[in-house]
Amino acid sequence: MATVTLRDTEKTLTDAGEISAFLAPFGIWYRRFEGSDQLPENANDQEILAAYDEPIRELMAEGGYVTADVINIKPETPNLEPMLNKFNKEHWHDEDEVRFIVHGRGLFHVHPKNEGPVFSIEVVKGDMIRVPKGTHHWFDLCADRTIRAIRLFQDVSGWTPHYTGSGTDASYQPLCFGPMYMPARGV
Ligand SMILES: [Fe+2]
Repeated sequence: MATVTLRDTEKTLTDAGEISAFLAPFGIWYRRFEGSDQLPENANDQEILAAYDEPIRELMAEGGYVTADVINIKPETPNLEPMLNKFNKEHWHDEDEVRFIVHGRGLFHVHPKNEGPVFSIEVVKGDMIRVPKGTHHWFDLCADRTIRAIRLFQDVSGWTPHYTGSGTDASYQPLCFGPMYMPARGV
């Protein structure tokens, strides 16, 4: 289950219905997928895509996404730091950011344009999220530096980050919950 944290007050939401309702005004779609429980730890990409076939098809039809792939990030992934540094500064994309989390965890921060408070969304196995194009956000891994996720694309080139340069990301230390608070960076 995801955890949403309003960073200015550290109030948290952990109920899927409450999280969906909170995110909807920001255009962010969130849903749980329990089918991943049947996936073995060592499932290959094809098995993962097959297990998520139904929500992939649904969202493709709804959002015009044409391709789906699986990313697999581990502590030993080559060039991990430069890759993470690309996305942990406030940015937006010309394309929706769609992720179905299969394994591991990650932390999105969203900076609403209409002066709403910054909030974070910690996503874990079974969470499905769509952050619409143009949303100002940034992303960190948690201390285990592990995430496996399905991505859906309309056009892969649209996923290039455009940086806002606001520096807002520096004001919020990325904290993941998990079984305990874990610093997300600098460990
Ligand atoms: Fe992004």
